[in-house]
Amino acid sequence: RDRNTKFADASKIECIHFGEFEIDTWYTAPYPQEYSENRVLWICEFCLKYMNSEYVGWRHKMKCESKHPPGDEVYRDGSISVFEIDGRKHSLYCQNLCVLAKLFLGSKTLYYDVEPFLFYVMTECDEFGMHFVGYFSKEKRITSQHNVSCILTLPIHQRKGYGNLLIAFSYLLTRHENKTGSPEKPFSDLGLLSYRNYWKLTLCYELRNQSTPVTIVQLSQRTAMTPDDVICGLEALNALVRDPVTGTYALRIDYPALEAHIQKWEAKGYVKLNPAALVWTPYV
Ligand code: ACO
Ligand code: ZN
Repeated sequence: RDRNTKFADASKIECIHFGEFEIDTWYTAPYPQEYSENRVLWICEFCLKYMNSEYVGWRHKMKCESKHPPGDEVYRDGSISVFEIDGRKHSLYCQNLCVLAKLFLGSKTLYYDVEPFLFYVMTECDEFGMHFVGYFSKEKRITSQHNVSCILTLPIHQRKGYGNLLIAFSYLLTRHENKTGSPEKPFSDLGLLSYRNYWKLTLCYELRNQSTPVTIVQLSQRTAMTPDDVICGLEALNALVRDPVTGTYALRIDYPALEAHIQKWEAKGYVKLNPAALVWTPYV
C-alpha cells in the first residue's frame, strides 16, 4: 500500500451500500481520506472493492468478474459455502475485508498486515452469485492457541444462526488439527454472548448421551474447546458442583434440562454444520 495514502481522522461514512442492501455502520474504519469524506460508501459484495459514488459502483458492477470470494472453497452444504483465503495470496481482498469488518468491530483490528492470517468467508448462494454472509480470521502460526482472531456476521444477516455456524466451523477445523483452541480476546459484548451460547449448546449435545463418568479433558478433546471454555460451558449448565468437604468438583447432569435446551435451539430452524461437507487439510 502507498505509504502516502492519507487517512481521515474522523470518517463520515454512515452507511455502506453492499449488494442490494444499505447497512448502517457501527464504528469508524480507516478508509483512505478520499473515501471517508462521503456519507455512503459503495462496496462490491463479491470482490469487496470500495468506491465513493453510486456511478463508480454501478460501473464496477458491470465489469466485475467475481461472483464469489477468492481462494479455495473448503466447505459446501446446500447453499452454504466457506472459502479459505490466504492473506498472502489475496492481500487486497483480505485488506478490504478487514477494513469492512472494522465498521462493525469496536476493538482494534489489523488492516494491512494480513499475510500471517487465513480468512474463512461464509457465503450463501443464489442464481446471482455466492453472497458474503460473514467471516472469521485465523492465525497461520501453528503454535497459536487461538482458533479465531476476529469474527463477524454482517448486520443484515445477524441473529439467524450464522455466527453460531461460523464458530462451529472454526472448531471443526481445530478438531481436524487434533488441537484445542479458543478465540482471541478481548471479546466484544456480542462475541461473548455468541461464544457462551455455543459452548453451552455444544456441551448439551456432548453430554446428552453420556452415561459413564467423563472428565473435562475428555470433553475438551471431543469438542476442540479448551478446558477453560469447557468449564465455562459447564457452569452455564449449572453442571459443576463443588464438594464442600473435599473441595473437589463433580459433574451433575440434568438430562431433561439439556434436552429442553437442545429442543429450544433446534426449534429456531437454524442451518446446522455438516462436518462431512468439509474438504480440507490443515495449513502447513
Ligand atoms: N443479543 C443477545 N444474544 C445474542 C446476540 C445479541 N445481539 N447475538 C448473538 N447472541 C447469542 C444468542 O444466544 C444467539 O442465539 P439466538 O439468536 O437464537 O438467541 C446466539 O448467540 C447465536 O447467534 P447467531 O445468530 O448465530 O450470531 P450472529 O450471526 O448474529 O453473529 C456475531 C454473532 C458474529 C458476534 C455478530 O454479532 C457480529 O458480527 N458482531 C459484530 C462483530 C463482533 O462483535 N464480533 C465478535 C468480536 S470478538 C472476536 O472476534 C473473538
Ligand atoms: Zn467487484
